[in-house]
Amino acid sequence: MSIADAADVSGPSEAVGTGVTAVSDAPGGAFPAGFAFGASTAAYQIEGSVDVGGRTPSIWDTFSHTPGKVANGDTGDVAVDHYSRFRDDVRLMADLGLTGYRFSLSWPRVQPGGSGPLNQTGLDFYRALVDELLEHGITPAVTLYHWDLPQELEDAGGWPNRDTAYRFAEYAAGAAEALGDRVSTWITLNEPWCSAYLGYGSGVHAPGRTDDADALKAAHHLNLGHGLAVGAMRSVLPSDAKLAVSLNLHAVRALTDHPDDLDAARRIEAVGNRVFTGPIFKGAYPQDLLADTGHIVDWDALVHDGDLAEISRPIDLLGLNYYNPTLVSAVSNNHPVDRHELHGKGAHSPWPGAEGVAFHQAPGEVTAMDWPVDPSGLYDSLTGLYKEFGVPLIVSENGAAYEDTVDADGVVDDPERIAYVRGHLGAVSDSIAAGADVRGYYLWSLMDNFEWAYGYEKRFGAVRVDYETQARTPKASARWYAEFIRTHRR
Ligand code: FCB
Repeated sequence: MSIADAADVSGPSEAVGTGVTAVSDAPGGAFPAGFAFGASTAAYQIEGSVDVGGRTPSIWDTFSHTPGKVANGDTGDVAVDHYSRFRDDVRLMADLGLTGYRFSLSWPRVQPGGSGPLNQTGLDFYRALVDELLEHGITPAVTLYHWDLPQELEDAGGWPNRDTAYRFAEYAAGAAEALGDRVSTWITLNEPWCSAYLGYGSGVHAPGRTDDADALKAAHHLNLGHGLAVGAMRSVLPSDAKLAVSLNLHAVRALTDHPDDLDAARRIEAVGNRVFTGPIFKGAYPQDLLADTGHIVDWDALVHDGDLAEISRPIDLLGLNYYNPTLVSAVSNNHPVDRHELHGKGAHSPWPGAEGVAFHQAPGEVTAMDWPVDPSGLYDSLTGLYKEFGVPLIVSENGAAYEDTVDADGVVDDPERIAYVRGHLGAVSDSIAAGADVRGYYLWSLMDNFEWAYGYEKRFGAVRVDYETQARTPKASARWYAEFIRTHRR
């Protein structure tokens, strides 16, 4: 089997363009019965208790303890102490009326060291969490890998090492076997774009390596790990289990219709989006990606016979994580060059093979991350993805950080966050009205937490966490979301 697909995945998708689609600001449209109104978190960002119950270090423990890597020297050692407070946190979710909760398993808690037998204490923690959720009528969606690779596997080469894909599938099957009687939605990877390109390309995420070839190797091995995990999990899960992957597909827009700018958008779509959707949904890497990156990595050596058949095993849901659109042009085109890199500005680019592409800040409102607020990118992505792949979708992450101000009672009035969430729920309901099969929306995040390289500086929560006392106080946006759910769930 050739590793490259026919031309149909090479061209720019309809998401490329300069037009902005209008979306309704006040969603009145119906959400389908059973639609999950949820919130999302990740193990390293909330759990703390990093040396409790047999858990071993992950690459994020090592990275956050390396001076200069995370703002203020923050680490996830304590985080928001969810490991001890999970019952209270589930009660909080129930008070908000959430119908779904997406969280991740810590690989080194479930399988210390990343190989060998699973750790009963780790599994017991997640079993207790799931039981608590189910008792409160909240449906769990479990992510297997939200970036916390066991350190031992990084020491053996990390994701650029092919063996990591096999280790991941083994862990995934074990976790599915242990929890599959009570969890029916399973997400293999969270944002492999970040794992590959921020972890091994720009180095702003763990493990902090900066090598373009390793970044592309990591991307392929993450794809392979996903496919192998899907195969292994299908054989242990009940037949009605839903298997998914969460991708941060970029809603790429060209600054102008100039062919050079359109080509810049095409390049970013190739290395940012189609490097994942090509093999996963079409069983092939796009021709143009191979051409753009062939000088960096030897794809024929990287992709073994049979890999694409593994990676393209059918899945039941695609999770889209969406925060903002991506505006690009060709550098040569004489536009101002404002290199804006998601998740921080590193000296190395997280876009291998896209030298010559300039990133622009879209005009208009931004969040505390400097990310533009533009729900039309969510609408365009959902409708475009459903049209292209026909797979049911969930929005597995969407939300915003703002500079919250707290009153004397710990209460935060956050009208910007309410407007952000309202606008994006509007985009979801518009996309459903336009025919897209969207089955859930998981707000990022349930509560303030460890925001990776930004440490505790950036607050994405609907619930305020006082990091001194660990007190949780719902913000106005949490109350708004609760009311929205109450009036829209069916
Ligand atoms: C996403 C991550 C999530 C969180 C949000 C803000 O890229 O998946 O953990 O950091 O960004």
